Amino acid sequence: MKNLVKQFAEISRNDFPLFNGSHNNLIYLDHAATSQKPKQVIDSLKKYYSFQNANVHRGAHQLSAIATEKFENSRKLAANFINSNNEKEIIFTRNATEAINLVAYAWGNNKLQKGDEILISLMEHHSNIVPWQLIAKEKKCKLNYINIDKNGELDLDDFRKKLTDKTKLVSLVHVSNTLGCCNPIEEISYLAHKKGSLVLLDACQSLAHKPIDIKSLGIDFLAGSSHKLCGPTGIGFLWGKEEILEKMPPFLGGGEMIDEVFEERSTWADLPHKFEAGTPAIGEAIGMGVAMNYLQKIGLNEIHNYEKELTKYLFEKLEEIDNLKIFGPSPLIQPDRGPLATFHIQGIHSNDVAELLDSSNICIRSGHHCCQPLHRFYGIKSTARASLSFTSTPSEIDSLTEELKSIISFLKKNS
Ligand SMILES: Cc1ncc(COP(=O)(O)O)c(C=O)c1O
Repeated sequence: MKNLVKQFAEISRNDFPLFNGSHNNLIYLDHAATSQKPKQVIDSLKKYYSFQNANVHRGAHQLSAIATEKFENSRKLAANFINSNNEKEIIFTRNATEAINLVAYAWGNNKLQKGDEILISLMEHHSNIVPWQLIAKEKKCKLNYINIDKNGELDLDDFRKKLTDKTKLVSLVHVSNTLGCCNPIEEISYLAHKKGSLVLLDACQSLAHKPIDIKSLGIDFLAGSSHKLCGPTGIGFLWGKEEILEKMPPFLGGGEMIDEVFEERSTWADLPHKFEAGTPAIGEAIGMGVAMNYLQKIGLNEIHNYEKELTKYLFEKLEEIDNLKIFGPSPLIQPDRGPLATFHIQGIHSNDVAELLDSSNICIRSGHHCCQPLHRFYGIKSTARASLSFTSTPSEIDSLTEELKSIISFLKKNS
């Protein structure tokens, strides 16, 4: 562990302006909300907007050719990042939320019929709930929720019970942004396909933390956001199997997504452009490719192994604190879980915890983390969440837990 800490601390100091010690001594433990950006990504944005800025796919001039080449190269990098060998299967979107909405509208509107069922879980982020509520209402379908078991993991027995011949889509989070559990997607995909259902994976919280292989996961769609994997905001992507995407009608209409436009009708561009209406976030897409390349160069297996050790340490330290309850499976139960801990300290509002930590320069998240149904399931409105990345260190975890202990004793004395 010591060597790993040294190796990753060096990467963090060298590559991340925020962590090189010259800015301030912030301890950033909110990577699940958005990750910090390495200078490789920041430099690529600066370079694009300074010297390569042009619209893509349109111009005959050299600048447009450079921008198009870089933009399309990013699509290849994104395909490679999830082990797809077909870049036509990568659709650039604004974020993961838009990727899920694309499936809900373009696939759902076309394929879902009255009485069909969509299966999600109680631990989903709102962006994997609300689009399905909207489409289920429109198409008179039923939206079912898989329960959470006593360890804070997906209840697989309940999944098997709720997966029926009527289920047309299972849409699940890979690693929960609140419980941190990693769902057994291979098994879920296998069972769903046996019933004739497609599977969508919300990979927002796993893409930056471990290698993702769409082939071994056996899924049909995957949604991801660049800003959670060290890339810029304003860009994300949907991966979908070519044969499924081919049969889907467009999501949004406009420039770029057409082949021919007549007064009364239009025909569509080939994949992936059929789903990319209007001028895309070009510099940001390029930056996302740089971020993916950056993570792959460090090594996603190496990142995963280091973060696993850090998560174990985070749990050990938090478990020392009296009256602190952690939600989600301990790394002893699920060693492959995500690098975060969501907790509640009895008698203290999580917003107060986050604000008091902030006054000591420690950034964590408090609230419902866009998982209100999950919080309702636990009968609590708000929790605190510390989330890690490969830039995190055991000493940051020590500072967090020491500060939590002083907050508890300060509030006890003053209550
Ligand atoms: C698990 C999960 N899904 C989806 C999202 C939505 O991501 P975005 O807001 O980038 O679309 C988030 C963001 O927090 C998330 O954690």
